[in-house]
Amino acid sequence: MGRMTEYLTVDEHDMLPRDGAIKLHGEAAFEGMRKAGRLAAEILDAMVPLVRPGVTTGEIDDEVRRLTLEGGAVPATLGYRGYAHSCCISINHVVCHGIPGSKALKEGDILNIDVTPLLDGWHGDTSRMFIVGDAPLKAKRLVDVTHECLMIGIELAKPGNRLGDIGAAIQKHAERHRYGVVRDFCGHGLGRLFHDAPEVIHAGRAGTGPELKPGMFFTIEPMINLGRPAVKLLEDGWTAVTRDRSLSAQFEHSIGITEDGCEIFTQSPKGLDKPPYAG
Ligand code: MF3
Ligand code: CO
Ligand code: CO
Repeated sequence: MGRMTEYLTVDEHDMLPRDGAIKLHGEAAFEGMRKAGRLAAEILDAMVPLVRPGVTTGEIDDEVRRLTLEGGAVPATLGYRGYAHSCCISINHVVCHGIPGSKALKEGDILNIDVTPLLDGWHGDTSRMFIVGDAPLKAKRLVDVTHECLMIGIELAKPGNRLGDIGAAIQKHAERHRYGVVRDFCGHGLGRLFHDAPEVIHAGRAGTGPELKPGMFFTIEPMINLGRPAVKLLEDGWTAVTRDRSLSAQFEHSIGITEDGCEIFTQSPKGLDKPPYAG
């Protein structure tokens, strides 16, 4: 027997302690997440024409901030644990939490842009990969398979399944392609809080972990490496890179468990789910 999982049915007006319990939300919360998630997805849609050689990650961050504020939200990352930017931009061997700045994109780069607008108290957390011009086939394949990993996880997100079922399926798919699944970062519960229980692992054993119940909100955000799973943190305290300097890819959606499956809050309204984004 594992540790007992606690669930807490919450209503829109409840005070929400960060007590490790998994929250079960009602319809008003779904509506809040739908709006925050849609804005997050629209912000990523708007990044498509921006991603080209010579554009700096700082310029992309400025545009994320502008669009977030224009949408009536604030970037949840701004001031989060001392982080001073409106998104994370992780290029090539950067696994996650890349800090925007003066670095310019170049042809063949693959990058993840991760945004989290906080709209009317709800967090819409999503990220996608982008490719600058054209990239080598092995990079494009990594990006494709990482998106498949996310969607395979989402297919298993339904009542009765367990979080371990999601992790196991993602791991199996990634390892079938001889990729490494990052263990040091997880998906997470979210809603009124940016990062909440439960931890959503992207590798694990089927049939283990908390059972999924209607009203749970969480992200799935697999980080998949062309090489080994190991990461290291750079001096800045944020940037995580692959230890073997192999390429890394990630996609993230925020979802809510429904009676018979799940709702993806951060689906692209324009169908810009994965590259290539233009014909
Ligand atoms: N958006 C990231 C996630 O998916 C968190 C970024 S926190 C930051 O959970 F401070 F690094 F921006
Ligand atoms: Co997240
Ligand atoms: Co994110």
